This record gives sequence, structure tokens and C-alpha cells, in this order.
Amino acid sequence: MGRLLFFYAFLFYCHFLNALFTVEAPQSLCIVERGNNVTMECTFPVNGKLEFRDLSVSWEKKDGLKQVYVLHKGKEDLKNQHIDFKGRIKLLKENLNLGRSLLQITDVKLRDAGVYRCVIAYGGADYKTIHLKVKAPYRIINQGVVSTGHNEWRLTCQSEGYPEAVVIWQNRNYEDLTYKANTRFETASDQLYLVTSTLTIKSGIDEIFYCTFWNKELQENTTAVLHIADSTDGILQTESRRFVGATLIATAFVGSVLLFLLCIRKGFQVILTGYKRTVENPASIRIYLP
Ligand SMILES: *[C@@H]1O[C@H](CO)[C@@H](O)[C@H](O)[C@H]1NC(C)=O
Ligand SMILES: *[C@@H]1O[C@H](CO)[C@@H](O)[C@H](O)[C@H]1NC(C)=O
Repeated sequence: MGRLLFFYAFLFYCHFLNALFTVEAPQSLCIVERGNNVTMECTFPVNGKLEFRDLSVSWEKKDGLKQVYVLHKGKEDLKNQHIDFKGRIKLLKENLNLGRSLLQITDVKLRDAGVYRCVIAYGGADYKTIHLKVKAPYRIINQGVVSTGHNEWRLTCQSEGYPEAVVIWQNRNYEDLTYKANTRFETASDQLYLVTSTLTIKSGIDEIFYCTFWNKELQENTTAVLHIADSTDGILQTESRRFVGATLIATAFVGSVLLFLLCIRKGFQVILTGYKRTVENPASIRIYLP
């Protein structure tokens, strides 16, 4: 209640003293990325040396009139600071001498977005509003490419950001495939959206597809390229399997010859058995090798 009175007393003053004392906001719109720091500024006239005892500064957030910061007659008073801002607010006091009220918010949250009012009383009183926008770009896209058989693939793109993004799918020729995709939104921490988009499509090998997260409000696009290929691992595996197969056949062949030479003395019965086992299961030829 006290702070409300404080504020309305200022407003009342303003009407009388507006002409004499004017607060300005050099930047009435601030855009900051979530997690960064931001400094909002208001200026006020100081003639000569600043008399700290006569200065009151108040920063409030308009929704619900949340108290952000109060300097009352030169003394900091954070008793009624709103819980949203605890530990993240600093008034850069060294600038007050120059008639600048700089409010720093560290580790900006999405919920910090809104309209702020800086009220200053120093002889007269006045205030200005500053609009703070907080952005969270869809910067990192996690992707998945899974074969569902019959030349059909399930492509997935997932990212976190704010506000909601439109996910656009395109093929190599930039033809729009968005209408075939399925996009869902979940809320993650601090109002972030977790956006997951899935496109199931027939395609040959060696194709590429694009998924673009279009953050309309921020006019930002982030694109991922998805390759459809025999995965490198797969190719290596196939090749190594072929290689192992060839070795086995060669071993079997050499083994058979060796066996033949070894066993020729022992009669036809043994050779036939050994050869038969070799053909049935090439791997078992190792048993006969020295
Ligand atoms: C934000 O400010 C704090 C304290 O002044 C500092 O430790 C931190 O490195 C800053 N963070 C960024 C992202 O600039
Ligand atoms: C983002 O992509 C959409 C759809 O492809 C396009 O209409 C828009 O102009 C792009 N915006 C930017 C900033 O590149």
C-alpha cells in the first residue's frame, strides 16, 4: 500500500511540476535474449552536484504494479521488492550523479517481459515507461531420421524457444511439404515452448530435406538440413560384413586344400567328412587349421 501511495503522490506532483522536471527514456523499447543481462535507462535533470538525500527513484513493472527497485530519499529500500526480481536487480548508482537512472536485470527471464515505469522525484517528479521484450530464439534443432521401411522415412525436428514457432518443411527443391507434417507444442521451463515436428515421407537415398523454425514475432528463421542416406555406420557394417565373408570363403578354400593334402594319406572317408562340414558351416573350418 505504501508504495502505491508513493507512486500516486508522484503522479499528483507530476501535473504541477511537469514543466519544470522531466524524466526521459532514451530507449522506450528494449529487446533482450533470455538469460542475458539488460540495462534500462531513464534520465532526469541534475543541476550541479546531486543531493542524494533529495533523490527518490522507483522502478515498477506495470502488470500488478510489481515493485522492482526503490531508492527512497537516497536510501535503497528492497523490503517490498517483488519475489520475481529477488537477487537480479541492480541500480547502477555511480550514474545517478549524471542524471541517469540505470536499472540492470541479470539473467533475464521470459516472465520479465512487459512494461516498466521509472519514477523519479528530485525536487519535481515525473515518470516514463519502457517496454521490455524478451526473446528466446530456436537456436539448436535436434533432428532424427528413421526408416520405417518401403522407402518411407520419419523425419523429426525439435527445438526450444519463445514465442511459438511455425515449422516449415521443404525438400531439395524448396517445395513446401509442411501440410504433410505434424507439429506439436509442449511447455518447457520458464514459459519456453518445446516444439516437435514430424514429417513422414517416401524418399530415395541421398535426398535432403529442410525444417525451418520460423519465429514470426522475432522475424527469425533457424533451419536444419536432414540427409537421407545409408548411414555411414551402415555402409561400414555392410562392407566389413562382405569383407569377413570373403575371408571366410578364402579360409575355407585354403583350409580345404590343406585338409585335402593332409588327409589324402588317411583315406577318402575323412576328407569327405571334413569337406562336408566346411561347406555347411564355413566358420567351422577354423577347427581344422593348425
Ligand atoms: C550479467 O551480469 C552479471 C553480474 O553483473 C555477470 O556476472 C554476468 O556475467 C553477466 N552475464 C552476461 C550474459 O553478460
Ligand atoms: C522465414 O521463413 C518464412 C517461410 O519460409 C518466410 O516467409 C520468411 O520471410 C522468413 N523470414 C526471415 C526473416 O527470413
